Amino acid sequence: MKTHRVLTGITTSGTPHLGNYVGAIRPTVRASRLAEVESFYFLADYHALIKVGEPARVQRSTLEIAATWLACGLDPEKVTFYRQSDIPEIPELTWLLTCVTGKGILNRAHAYKASVDKNNAAGEDPDAGVTAGLFMYPVLMAADILMFNAHQVPVGRDQIQHIEMARDMASSFNHLYGEHFTLPEAVTEDHVALLPGLDGRKMSKSYDNTIPLFVPREQLRKLIMGIVTDSRAPGEPKSTEGSALFQLYQAFASADETTALAQAFAEGIAWGDAKQTLFERLDREIAPLREVYDQLIQDPARIEKTLKAGADKARAIATPFTARLREAVGLRRLDSAVSATTTKAAKAAAPAFKQYRESDGLFYFKLVDAGGQLLLQSTGFASGKEAAGAIARLQQQGSQALDGLQAQLTTRADPAALAQALAHFGPDKA
Ligand code: TRP
Repeated sequence: MKTHRVLTGITTSGTPHLGNYVGAIRPTVRASRLAEVESFYFLADYHALIKVGEPARVQRSTLEIAATWLACGLDPEKVTFYRQSDIPEIPELTWLLTCVTGKGILNRAHAYKASVDKNNAAGEDPDAGVTAGLFMYPVLMAADILMFNAHQVPVGRDQIQHIEMARDMASSFNHLYGEHFTLPEAVTEDHVALLPGLDGRKMSKSYDNTIPLFVPREQLRKLIMGIVTDSRAPGEPKSTEGSALFQLYQAFASADETTALAQAFAEGIAWGDAKQTLFERLDREIAPLREVYDQLIQDPARIEKTLKAGADKARAIATPFTARLREAVGLRRLDSAVSATTTKAAKAAAPAFKQYRESDGLFYFKLVDAGGQLLLQSTGFASGKEAAGAIARLQQQGSQALDGLQAQLTTRADPAALAQALAHFGPDKA
C-alpha cells in the first residue's frame, strides 16, 4: 500500500511570529510525528523571489525559518526537510506544467487578480508592476506538490485556490501523458483561531503588528506590555470577548488556565498583571525552544548540512521521477527512441477504465478512449469489488462480455469503436 504523503512549503520572506507558530508550525510539527504519514516540508525560496527583491533578506529568512522549524521539534530524520532551490527538478517540472496550463486559468488566480484590480482602480495599466513570476506563482507551487505526489497539503485558506489549480494541472498532464500525478487535496485547520496581533487585528506582517517568535525574553515582555487593551482601571471587571490579550493566552494555555484567567478578568485584574501572566505563560512554552533556536542560528553550517541531507532525500525521489516525466512528454534520448516511443505512445493513446465513487455511495466505472471520449458508462454497483469484477470481465472477454453486463451499462459508443477499444485489454495485451 502506498503511504500517505503530506507536503507543505513556507515562503522564506520573513521572520516567524507567534501567529505562524500557533497556526502552522506547532500543529504541523505535532502531525509530523504521527507514524502513518510521510511528510515533506520545504523552504519555498524560489517563491520568496517573487515578493522579495533583497538577497540578504531571502538568505536571512531562510536561515531563520529553517532554525525555527528545527527548534520547534521537526525531526529531519523522520521527515523530508529541504530547500526548494536545492531541487533543480522543480523548475524543470514547472516548465512541463506550464505547457499544460491554460493562461486563462492563471488570469483568475486571486493574487494576480488582486494586483490587476488594484491597478485598474488606480487607473494604471492592468499589469503595471506585475511580474511574470507573480503570474506563474501557481505553476511553481503545483510543481512543488506534484513532484512528490502529495496526497494532502496543509495550507491557509488563502492557498486553497492554488491547490485546486495544482489538481487541474495534474489532470491535464495525466490526460495527455498517462497517469503520473496524484491529485492533491488542500487541508485547512478550521479550529485554529486566528491569532490577534499587538493592535487586536489579525497578526500579520502586512499590519506590522506581529510578535516575533524568538526575540530575547526581555523584548518579548516589552512587546506583550504593548498589546492594546481598553481603558478599564484595576478592580473594574474586564471582558474576555474581543480581548487580544485573552485570545493570545488561550492559544497557549490549558483549558483550566484559561478558565482561571477569565475568572481574574471578571474580578477586575489590572491590565499590567494580566499582561505579566500572559508573558509568563508564553515564555514557559517558548523559552526551551528559544534556547535551541539561539544555538542553531549561531551555527548556519549545521543547518546547511541538514538541508543538504534533506535535498538528497528529496532528490532520490525527484530525479528518477523527472526522468520518467521527461520520457513521457517526449524529451528522450534519440538512440533509444524507436521501441520506447511506440510502447509509451501506445500506452498514452490507450483507452482506459476509470473507477470512482459517487455521492450516492455507489461505485461506478467508465471506459474512455485516448481522447477522453466516453465509450461506456456503468450504473452504480454496491461495492468497489463488483465494479472491478465487471471491468475485469470486459478486459478479459472484450466485446463478448457486453451482453452479460447489459443491465449495468448505460452508455454505449458505436460497436466498432467499442470493440476496438476493448481489444486493447485482454490477457495478451496486459
Ligand atoms: N504559497 C505558499 C504560501 O505562501 C507557500 C508554498 C509554496 C506552498 N509552495 C507550496 C505551500 C507548496 C504548500 C505547498 O503559504
